[in-house]
Amino acid sequence: MLKLDSSVRRVTSMGKGVTIWFTGLSGAGKSTISAIVAQKLQALGRNVEVLDGDEVRLNLSAGLSFSKADRDTNVRRIGYVCRLLSRNGVIAISAAISPYRSTREELRTNISDFLEIFIDCPLGVCIDRDVKGLYARALKGEIPAFTGVSDPYEPPLNPDLTIHTDSETKEASAERVVQLLYERGYL
Ligand code: PPS
Repeated sequence: MLKLDSSVRRVTSMGKGVTIWFTGLSGAGKSTISAIVAQKLQALGRNVEVLDGDEVRLNLSAGLSFSKADRDTNVRRIGYVCRLLSRNGVIAISAAISPYRSTREELRTNISDFLEIFIDCPLGVCIDRDVKGLYARALKGEIPAFTGVSDPYEPPLNPDLTIHTDSETKEASAERVVQLLYERGYL
């Protein structure tokens, strides 16, 4: 009986799981914001997993290209893992470009607790930042099918939240995400 009580308490204190789906151009700030949000949520005692685009492509999606079919496969795989995690009380955060609207909408349908967050940053600012030097190479034609340069990015039409990383601090952006979770009853 004592055992059952403590296990019930454990489940209750975990809180409700949710998938936070960041989408945006390369260099828009998905990884940066997701890392800060994860820290904030962990400080609140929540279990959090970040599935970051670059890291996923070294592991879960190793070998996939940047064709539309492979990007969709990548996004669906991340969505599958997020679904498993979030239905077990974890806050799962995806930080992949996920450029196609219909594929993201598919995830919204398949994942019961799903928040789409648009990391909105003008292409020109991403090009100026060019943290990884990829835009310079893409603009010279050295990287084929580069999102925003030679491959499409379809912004969300009705995201749960839009973050403007060119005009607000990363701290403020992360705080707005945490606030959204409060408002939607996940914290
Ligand atoms: S996707 O579209 O969701 O499958 O992309 P993702 O898995 O997030 O991978 C994006 C990161 O891969 C690097 N990279 C490219 N991005 C876009 N287009 C092309 N062709 C490409 N080639 C390599 C790039 O570093 C992206 O990282 P982020 O963190 O988004 O800048």
